[in-house]
Amino acid sequence: MADINVDQVIKKLSMSDKVDLLAGIDFWHTKGLPEHGIPSLRLTDGPNGVRGTKFFNGIKAACFPCGTGLGATFNLELLEEAGRKMGEEAKVKGAHAILGPTINMQRGPLGGRGFESLGEDPFLAGLGAAALVRGIQSTGIQATIKHFVCNDHEHKRNAVQAIITERALREIYALPFQLVVRDSNPGSFMTAYNGVNGTYCSENPKLLDQVLRGEWGWDGMVMSDWYGTYSTTEAALAGLDLEMPGPPRFRGEPLKFNVSTGKVRTHILDQRVKAMLEFIKKCAASGVKENAPEGTADTPETAELLRRIGNEGIVLLKNDKSVLPLKKDKKTVIIGPNAKVATYHGGGSASLAAYYAVTPFDGISNKLALEPDYTIGQYSHKLLPLLGYSTKSTKGAQGMTMKVYTEGHDVPDRQPVDQLELLKTEMLLIDYENPNVKSPLWFATLEGSLVAEEDATWEFGVVVSGSANLYINDELIVDNTTKQELGDAFFGSATVEVKGFYKLEKGKTYNFKVTFGSSPTSKLGGGAVLLNGGALRVGGCKVIDPKAEIAHAVELARGADQVIVCAGLNAEWETEGNDRADMSLPPGLDDLIAAVAKANPNTAVVMQSGTPVEMPWINDVNAVIQAWYGGNETGNTIADILFGDVNPSGKLSLSFPVRVQDNPAYLNYRTEGGRVIYGEDIYIGYRFYEFVDREVLFPFGHGLSYTTFAFSDVSLVEKEEDLIVSVVVKNTGSVKGAEVAQVYVAPKQKAKVNRPVKELKGFAKVELAPGETKTVSVNVAKKYAASYWDEDRDQWCVEEGEYEVIVSDSSEIKGSKAVKSSFKVAETFWWSGL
Ligand code: BGC
Repeated sequence: MADINVDQVIKKLSMSDKVDLLAGIDFWHTKGLPEHGIPSLRLTDGPNGVRGTKFFNGIKAACFPCGTGLGATFNLELLEEAGRKMGEEAKVKGAHAILGPTINMQRGPLGGRGFESLGEDPFLAGLGAAALVRGIQSTGIQATIKHFVCNDHEHKRNAVQAIITERALREIYALPFQLVVRDSNPGSFMTAYNGVNGTYCSENPKLLDQVLRGEWGWDGMVMSDWYGTYSTTEAALAGLDLEMPGPPRFRGEPLKFNVSTGKVRTHILDQRVKAMLEFIKKCAASGVKENAPEGTADTPETAELLRRIGNEGIVLLKNDKSVLPLKKDKKTVIIGPNAKVATYHGGGSASLAAYYAVTPFDGISNKLALEPDYTIGQYSHKLLPLLGYSTKSTKGAQGMTMKVYTEGHDVPDRQPVDQLELLKTEMLLIDYENPNVKSPLWFATLEGSLVAEEDATWEFGVVVSGSANLYINDELIVDNTTKQELGDAFFGSATVEVKGFYKLEKGKTYNFKVTFGSSPTSKLGGGAVLLNGGALRVGGCKVIDPKAEIAHAVELARGADQVIVCAGLNAEWETEGNDRADMSLPPGLDDLIAAVAKANPNTAVVMQSGTPVEMPWINDVNAVIQAWYGGNETGNTIADILFGDVNPSGKLSLSFPVRVQDNPAYLNYRTEGGRVIYGEDIYIGYRFYEFVDREVLFPFGHGLSYTTFAFSDVSLVEKEEDLIVSVVVKNTGSVKGAEVAQVYVAPKQKAKVNRPVKELKGFAKVELAPGETKTVSVNVAKKYAASYWDEDRDQWCVEEGEYEVIVSDSSEIKGSKAVKSSFKVAETFWWSGL
């Protein structure tokens, strides 16, 4: 691709060409103008791996740990390396830009997408995301920081206005974006679905023009979230360059008309086009060809990196009586619903089909001399497990066979126009394409069979955007066609799960058939935003007796030397489009954990979740690790930590409150009357718990090791604009390990406004052999170290006085080995910009 001379090209483009550049042509591509040397770009999700252009039956990819797991590494070099790998993956998928990282803040623990962001602290999220962006963009691929700003919960995300003070906006929610601009200059920003204080983000001149492009001097390209453009003129005037996806709703003809009447002035159009062309120019320089085929690169190097990243993010929350590391030659039992499935990502646009995903059971078994015992102990699904994992397709492979038809199910002798083999019977069909399917109305069947292993009652469920029935041996078991009720799956476009029961007899074969109609057949009516094609999810599993399962698990635990409980949430509980209702584990799991731990004190709980869960049994369980959603290598990384092949060094990227009621956003969480009030102001996460002195389950920054460390000799050197904080870290234990020096700043005098007790300003991770000592340095820009947002002047203020610098291994200073120093600001000053 020849180099693009942006100013020359703009002069040559017709008005119509210009407008066409400013919207997608489909879900993932922008418009190319070959006659002007302008390629079509491919954009792809997302924050923990590069999915490519298909939600449905997508190409396989490298899945990284979820955002909170990445944040928990507290390792900027490693995140930069992760970013480089993401960039390489994008190239393999023929994509020019990645839709990530996500850096919205976790106001509270329940946000459906909390798992996607790096953590609750703006510096952790901002510095971490900047490292990812540097890595991604070093490959020539462009990163898209999202969602600007305050998309901090999912409930009615398109309808909600965040009502927030300017101070909280600047100090908490916009600050990570500001730091990313300062430290990495991302090629693109994605606006949030919601509005801030009455104006939608995608048409918000203050956010886009005044702050992002004005104050921060950023000159990249701004795109809307998918269907998050809400106007033609306002969005163009405010600075939204690209409407996604296409075909456009507000650009195209409406924008051409508005430009022709002068409502949108030509120079405004040209500003948008210039930003878009500059972006295309950067993308073209990556060498990625237009409409390139999507490939895979499942290499040992990728696996090694994913394992290293996963390992570094796992947090050892508790390890009383040195239960961990476990022994490889002992009789072991593995219990829990997360053991035999790889819970490797959260739900929504961050999900992808991994090259492979190692289950905890396999990762753990591979390390053990003796085959472990296993029992599920309890289910943890929100929707029934996918039926495809239990059935054989018509070809005899695991899964089901999908046949696509253009004619309805009552048309005799119709012929399929497409036939696919599916393992995951969960299909978001928005990007299903077939040249023979020309109408939005089409049909499909799913067929599969299973031979019952025992006499048991099974429960089956169908969720659909469109219509679907499930038949077993031609008998109608689930009717999700006649009457439908809106649920929250598939971004809120689909029905609730409609269920039916069937008794299976050992040794008999059961044939399943699901008849599906695409979205126009839906009976959901006004409340649902139907997506093209529609969606279908078919689940089924044996009905279990929860009490009997616990009793069985307890019996196994009693007879074992050591027990591992694999518990947690999954992509159904934590997903885009839907917030969690509470902070509990799925029903029955708390009882299971408590009973098993009582039966055997050598029990370690492996918790997989992207955000905190309540642990009412915590005082009765000796060892707990927080393993997040760990990507392809999930099971291996968990096993590495459990057996001490890797010494844990992850630190909590967000505070774990004791109860959901303790969290700062508890009173103002959902969308009510079209708004959500950020009443806790700047006090989220540890800023809140410390200020009100509220006990937490585990504090931000917490994470144990199999060795011990000591900090000493903290020193501060002021060099030009920077404060260089140095500290000596010693490994005082007997195994190799890594420690994070967390640098917090606490004002020593009362400021004009209330301020958090202390705030994280930087961090560094260091690996040490037993007995080894190293000096670690963390650079903090001095003005960032001490400032708060002064609403009287609409500027950052650095107040005169003394500031304590605390270097610690956690935000919890009490009883820890924190070392302290301080610096002085001689005279109050104000600043803006970066
Ligand atoms: C999400 C974005 C994502 C986009 C494309 C939206 O629903 O909010 O984060 O990049 O879809 O999948």
